[in-house]
Amino acid sequence: LDNGLALTPPMGWMSWQRFRCITDCDTFPDECISEKLFRRHADLLVSEGYADVGYEYVIIDDCWLEWNRDNKTNKLVPDRKRFPRGLNVLADHIHAKGLKFGLYQDFGTKTCAGYPGVIDHMALDAETFANWDVDYVKLDGCYANVSDMATGYPEFGRLLNETGRPMVYSCSWPAYQSEFGEQPHFDSLKRHCNLWRNWDDIDDSFESVMEIVDYFAKNQDSMQPHAGPGHWNDPDMLILGNYGLSYDQSKLQMAIWAVLAAPLIMSNDLAKVRPEIKEILQNRDVIAVNQDPLGIQGKRLLMKQNIEVWRRPIEPKINGEYSYADLFDKDNELGVFRKESQFKTRVIPNGVNFYKFTAL
Ligand code: DGJ
Repeated sequence: LDNGLALTPPMGWMSWQRFRCITDCDTFPDECISEKLFRRHADLLVSEGYADVGYEYVIIDDCWLEWNRDNKTNKLVPDRKRFPRGLNVLADHIHAKGLKFGLYQDFGTKTCAGYPGVIDHMALDAETFANWDVDYVKLDGCYANVSDMATGYPEFGRLLNETGRPMVYSCSWPAYQSEFGEQPHFDSLKRHCNLWRNWDDIDDSFESVMEIVDYFAKNQDSMQPHAGPGHWNDPDMLILGNYGLSYDQSKLQMAIWAVLAAPLIMSNDLAKVRPEIKEILQNRDVIAVNQDPLGIQGKRLLMKQNIEVWRRPIEPKINGEYSYADLFDKDNELGVFRKESQFKTRVIPNGVNFYKFTAL
C-alpha cells in the first residue's frame, strides 16, 4: 500500500500470542487485556531498550471490546472495566513514550473471540479509529465470507485512508483464503495493504515456527516477489521470550524472520524475557538485515537431509569479494570470501548460523 508507511517491516509488540483473551483481571491482574497491560508494555519497550533498536508499535489484539456497540451511536466501545478511561488516554501514553498505537478489529460480523466486527459499520469504525489516534490497524477475518474479502478489505483500507490519519493496514485476508485452498490476490494485497498474514496462527512451539517457515519456503516462488517497501508478507508474531523455544531455536526464529523481511512484532511478557533472549531480540546486526531498505524477501536455497540454506540479498548488491561476519557472534569477523570460494560451516540440531557478506 502506497501510503508512505511501513517502508521497512513494522516492528513492535502485540498481545495475542502471549496474553490471548485473558479478560479476568481479578485473577490475572498483570496479564488481562487491559489498559494496564499496554501501558506496562509501552513502558517496558522503552526502559528495556527495545525502542532504541526499532520496536515501535504497541498493538492491542482481540478482546478489547464490550460485547455490544453503543446502542445510540452504534460506535465501538472498549471494555468499560478493563479500559475504564477509553482508548485516547492509552494512545496518549503510548505516543508520549515516542511509540505508536495499534488496534485490532475484524472484517466479519464478529471478531474471532466473538466481539462486534466492522462489517456493517465500516465508515463509522474507520472514523472512530482515527479519533482514537490509532496508527496501525490489524483487520482479522473471522465470521466473514471469504468471497467478500476481495472487495471488503480494500474498502476498509480506503475508508481508513479517507480519515486523513496515516494508519498502517495489516490484512488477514490471505490467511483465510489459504484455509480454503485459494491463491491469495497478491496484486490487490500489495495495492491495498501494508502487510498481510499469509497463513496459520503461530503458537508457542518450535513445531509451529517450522510449519510456518516451511509454508513460506514451499510457496516462496508465488509469495516472495510481492514483498517490498510498503507491502510485506507476514509469517506472524515473534514468540521468543516465552516458553516454547530453546536458546538456539530463538535465534533461529529471529534469523529466519530477518531473512524473510518479516514484520518483527513480538508477543511475550517483556518484564519476563531472559537476558540472553533479550539480546537476540535486540541484536542490531540481525535487525539491520530485517530492516534493509531494499526490502527483498529472502528464500530457501537448499534443503538437504534436514539442513536448510536460506539467503537474502541486502544493500549493496555487488558481486566480487566479500568480508563476512557471524551475526550472532560479533567478535567473530571471519575473513574474506571470494565468489569462487567454498563456504563451510557446521550447524547444530534445531540451531542456526547467520552470516552477513559485505562487498569489499
Ligand atoms: C486470529 C488471528 O490470526 C490471530 O493473530 C489473533 O488476532 C486471533 N484471531 C484473535 O482472535
